[in-house]
Amino acid sequence: MFAEFYPWIKALHIVAVISWMAGLLYLPRLFVYHCRAEAGVQSETFKVMEERLLRVIMRPAMIATWGLGLMLVFVPEYQWWQSGWWIYGKIILVVLLTGFHDFLSRCAKAFAKDANARDEKFFRIINEVPTVLMIAIVILVVVKPF
Ligand code: HEM
Repeated sequence: MFAEFYPWIKALHIVAVISWMAGLLYLPRLFVYHCRAEAGVQSETFKVMEERLLRVIMRPAMIATWGLGLMLVFVPEYQWWQSGWWIYGKIILVVLLTGFHDFLSRCAKAFAKDANARDEKFFRIINEVPTVLMIAIVILVVVKPF
């Protein structure tokens, strides 16, 4: 039944992935600038940007990525669970990406309360985490190396 819609589900899955990744790559950058911002108008503007990015783009895109990805994986015609270890590797890495999302949302809450204790160097370094995970996930799902 799902097989008929498979390419459509996959297209929407990729759209959701792109939107989620955009946020995961941009939010730590916003935190870098936020660390440098002066208290007052500048800092308040960053708080609004961070909260909106999380609520309007990142959270819905993460839920859509998971929902559509799980729909793809449960299409019986494709038997992805028996197709190799890549799918398990992919899911582990997506769980790590979701953990990273959760960490960023806790950082945004700390910034919102003016209680952030981390410096801009920290956020510049963790900016590489979603990049590395994304490269590994895309290789796993496209190349299916094992
Ligand atoms: C738990 C969440 C996810 C599940 C269960 C899932 C599962 C799947 C499945 C079963 C496919 C179809 C593979 C095929 O038709 O060959 C797929 C396609 C794809 N997924 Fe995911 N996925 C998830 C999250 C992600 C994430 C976070 C990314 C990227 C960061 C991603 C990137 C892609 C890409 C690029 C494709 C297209 C691959 C192709 O057509 O060759 N997925 N996903």
